[in-house]
Amino acid sequence: MSESHTRSGGSARLNTGVAHNARVWNYWVGGKDNYEVDQQVGEHVAGMFPIIREIALADRWFLGRAVRFLAEEQGIRQFLDIGTGLPTVENTHEIAQRIAPDSRIVYVDNDPIVLVHARTLLTSTSEGVTDYIDADVHDPDAILERAAETLDFSKPVAVMMLGILNFVLDGDEARSIARRVMAAVPPGSHLALTHPTFDADLGGEGQIPAMKFWNENATPPVTARSREDIASFFDGLHLLEPGLVSCSQWRAEPDTPAAVPQFGAVAVKR
Ligand SMILES: C[S@@+](CC[C@H](N)C(=O)[O-])C[C@H]1O[C@@H](n2cnc3c(N)ncnc32)[C@H](O)[C@@H]1O
Repeated sequence: MSESHTRSGGSARLNTGVAHNARVWNYWVGGKDNYEVDQQVGEHVAGMFPIIREIALADRWFLGRAVRFLAEEQGIRQFLDIGTGLPTVENTHEIAQRIAPDSRIVYVDNDPIVLVHARTLLTSTSEGVTDYIDADVHDPDAILERAAETLDFSKPVAVMMLGILNFVLDGDEARSIARRVMAAVPPGSHLALTHPTFDADLGGEGQIPAMKFWNENATPPVTARSREDIASFFDGLHLLEPGLVSCSQWRAEPDTPAAVPQFGAVAVKR
């Protein structure tokens, strides 16, 4: 997609009258790329479910640790980041290319505001590449076809699905999307995934009324899942240590916060 098409397509679809996930998520992590309606809904949800800000931050910190692990310890040089979100301080390509400047990163999101800000994601090193695809996760074939213009699918790819399959409400469809994307990448590829849970042992039950409010007042509709359902997204893959845990506890560092009701894991395709 050309620069001009990218910009005008995003602006034309922008709706500032309804709260959008990418913008509210940006509000929760302390960003400025959001509107009054996003701030109002974001505050209301945080009032009902105060840990939501910690979840959003823990998820971004998981992204940092996961990309570092994949690039430094697993030798990954290609990333397909589906459900990218608005650019923030440490985006996938910045972390990966600091470790390996020749890393190739393809970002995918379907929110018009992310499209408008995509230029911030297209600041690759000269040795590497970044690309942005405006596409819907419900159509993995279209994503794979476009991503193949930048990524070499004969070499390992890290598929990043952080906070995205929760927008695919049908569990079978969500499983089938994860399976379809992982079927397209070779052995040695990885799946890094985070997903909200209702599980009470992580304090997730408070998410039920908050998500109900979200689904009545914002877009797109979202769901949380049980640990078993989230584990099923990794079927056929080998979970790496420490397995499926609260994303804040995955390869936790000394300053990582307590457990949050958002699972995270990284698995490898053998
Ligand atoms: C919760 S944010 C997560 C952002 C980032 N991955 C992170 O973990 O910080 C979810 C992102 O998924 C995007 N998204 C939601 N539904 C989508 C869909 N059907 N297709 C593509 N992207 C979608 C939203 O626009 C938003 O940017």
